[in-house]
Amino acid sequence: VTSGPADGPIARVLAADHARLGALLDRATARDGVIDPEPYDEFRRALLRHIAIEEKLLLPAAQQARDGAPVALAPRLRLDHGAIAALLVPTPTPTIVATLRHILAGHDAVEEDADGVYAECDRLLGDAAAALADEMVAYPAVRVNPHNDGPLVDAAVQRALARAGYRLASLDR
Ligand SMILES: [Fe+2]
Ligand SMILES: [Fe+2]
Repeated sequence: VTSGPADGPIARVLAADHARLGALLDRATARDGVIDPEPYDEFRRALLRHIAIEEKLLLPAAQQARDGAPVALAPRLRLDHGAIAALLVPTPTPTIVATLRHILAGHDAVEEDADGVYAECDRLLGDAAAALADEMVAYPAVRVNPHNDGPLVDAAVQRALARAGYRLASLDR
């Protein structure tokens, strides 16, 4: 089954954010073997804000519209978000970036597809979807901690990945 992108107000705002995030990561990795700290930092901040929008505005609004029942894919999305956020803690490496790209490719599709979570939320919210999309656009920057490369971080990343069914990408070609 092929399905194009959804096009309600929520899907439009959040899919555009995915595209902006993808462009930032491409910029951060434009030079072979180097991760450019400046665009990567912008990517990291923007991605954490994007996740906050989904967890604090989108999923709660959809749950409310379903009389308190979370959308079916909410637990899946939250596990992915946990893995993504964990990968953003340490200073990036090529392995971390490859793993992020892998997770985001599948995750963004689950959200963006014509039968995906964004379309479901646009449907559920109906006339209220446009106002919620405006709130998303206006959502403030989130507080972001500096990178942490401490001794416990590796294990925390591995655990967050394992919980969501992922492992660090292999860079073998
Ligand atoms: Fe997400
Ligand atoms: Fe998203």
